[in-house]
Amino acid sequence: MSDRAEALRTDVRSGFSAAQKWLPAKWFYDARGSALFEDITRLPEYYPTRAERETLAREAGEIARVTGASTLVELGSGSSEKTRLLLDGLRAHGTLRTFVPLDVSASALDEAVAAIRADYPGLEVHGVVGDFTEDLGLLPGEPPRLVAFLGGTIGNFLPAERIKFLRSVRAVLAEGEWLLLGTDLVKDPETLVRAYDDAAGVTAEFNRNMLRVVNDLLGADFDPGGFAHEAYWDAEREWIEMRLRATEETTVHIPGAGMTVHFAEGEYIRTEISAKFRAGGVAAELAESGFAVERWWTDAERRFGVSLSRAVREG
Ligand code: SAH
Ligand code: AVI
Repeated sequence: MSDRAEALRTDVRSGFSAAQKWLPAKWFYDARGSALFEDITRLPEYYPTRAERETLAREAGEIARVTGASTLVELGSGSSEKTRLLLDGLRAHGTLRTFVPLDVSASALDEAVAAIRADYPGLEVHGVVGDFTEDLGLLPGEPPRLVAFLGGTIGNFLPAERIKFLRSVRAVLAEGEWLLLGTDLVKDPETLVRAYDDAAGVTAEFNRNMLRVVNDLLGADFDPGGFAHEAYWDAEREWIEMRLRATEETTVHIPGAGMTVHFAEGEYIRTEISAKFRAGGVAAELAESGFAVERWWTDAERRFGVSLSRAVREG
């Protein structure tokens, strides 16, 4: 069994034994899932990518000037499309030598690395296939380093995991190095729900892709068509929850996990949370994790926040 299948087996065993069945969002991203995510970024309803790009385009020069980064590390890099704005800004500033994209999706990473090598001759590009909750110790590159964590992917952690993750990033940085963090902001529920339940049904296919990944890696017999996509806004916890709800009672065999799982009609799997933030909350969580926010920007419509923080001495 591959390492990836072993890791999924562990997550399936614990997630499907819980009272509320769930799986971690990283299991969306095989080659098909990564391609579907790229399709999502172009949907009219999915504003986060465009909003973050607007800010990066406006502020890339300032980010380069403030950080003077020699290495750009990108966690959960995907296609690294928006990251080109940072590469351009840092190259124009004259400090950038190395780019280190890290992603759990080998296909997305390979494509991004090939495209960036072709378009940025002379830049050292070290792609790392890895899990950003486990593999931060592997990151090469000379200081000063700028770690970018874009797209609002920080929102896909539960709150307690978020702080743990930010502290793990802080632990691999020296004092004075940098974190650029993208955070989607709280806004009206209709806009949020539309962004996660688009009219063309691309997000529904992305959501169901997780069942296909379980089928492929663990030999399970999920019928993805038997699960309905849902995007639910939890107003109290200020997060979107993506769910897959069984449209009728069903039993699923998962040989690779040694499990048979029963779903009652209407029972759902939580496949993702996507937390939405407020500026004060972002600054507080960064401070709790050993970072000081030096810049905070949004797009003109204030839909998406981008913070630039310095690693500070921990008290
Ligand atoms: N940063 C890009 C992509 C965001 S999609 C953007 O802003 O558009 C989230 C990305 O994180 C995907 O490419 C996915 O494969 C990756 N990812 C999700 N969980 C991960 C994990 N635990 N470790 C590493 N990469 C992960
Ligand atoms: C990667 N992540 C920030 C996306 C999000 O918006 O939470 C994943 C996604 N889920 C549904 N659509 C996009």
